[in-house]
Amino acid sequence: MNTETNSWIVLEQQLAAMAESGAFEWLQERSKPFLKLMGYYKCAMMEIETKFNVLNEEYAFEFDRNPITSIKTRLKRFVSIRDKMEQKSLPRTLEAMEENLNDIAGVRVICSFPEDVYTLAEAFLKQDDVTLIQKKDYIANPKPNGYRSLHLIVKIPVFLSNERREMKVEVQLRTIAMDFWASLEHQMHYKKDVHFTDDMERELIECAEASAALDLRMDNLRKRAQVRMSKRDADI
Ligand code: GTP
Ligand code: MG
Repeated sequence: MNTETNSWIVLEQQLAAMAESGAFEWLQERSKPFLKLMGYYKCAMMEIETKFNVLNEEYAFEFDRNPITSIKTRLKRFVSIRDKMEQKSLPRTLEAMEENLNDIAGVRVICSFPEDVYTLAEAFLKQDDVTLIQKKDYIANPKPNGYRSLHLIVKIPVFLSNERREMKVEVQLRTIAMDFWASLEHQMHYKKDVHFTDDMERELIECAEASAALDLRMDNLRKRAQVRMSKRDADI
């Protein structure tokens, strides 16, 4: 028998022992409030995803193109929540978690062009059930390492059977080019204990600048194409 099968059996035996001693029920009962709260975060995230899908539809109808290429959502894992709370020396309570962590629910909106980022953010923030808590414009002011994105922390209501609950969500808006850079940098570097030499850091900044320049050139091309299209339509 290989070790994998062996450890599976051991796990099964331990779970059976837990069930017999009532520890299983205890665990389930204790985790209920946490799972319930995570459910609310999930609903808030879904709500925001729908809002962006609606804006994308409207825009596609009005301007004949999609400003959003994809939307990703994620809920922070328990282990990451625990680590962040420990880092911030927070008490281990759900209240402290809700009060102090802004990124338990995350929505990432990947846009076609830089202008789309701002148009969408503005249309989203105008909606009367969305409350802006914090805005970080890393496009106008990139991080020293070259990172670019528009970050919004918002509050949005989730309607439950007997109450309305405001939940915080982190929304990141960025272009395909910004996402390309951030995704690769994240894989190599961000939050990992890998040392980059000064030379490597410089190269990373140069890559971010090259991709920002590409974004601008593509945006310019789009504007020129738009002018030609309007001219053609006027000629018809
Ligand atoms: P965190 O504690 O990491 O959540 O950061 P923060 O509270 O200082 O907030 P900030 O708005 O700066 O960053 C939030 C999120 O943006 C991160 O969790 C990442 O998803 C993303 N991010 C920020 N900086 C970088 C970066 O340098 N590289 C990459 N790849 N992602 C970044
Ligand atoms: Mg985070």
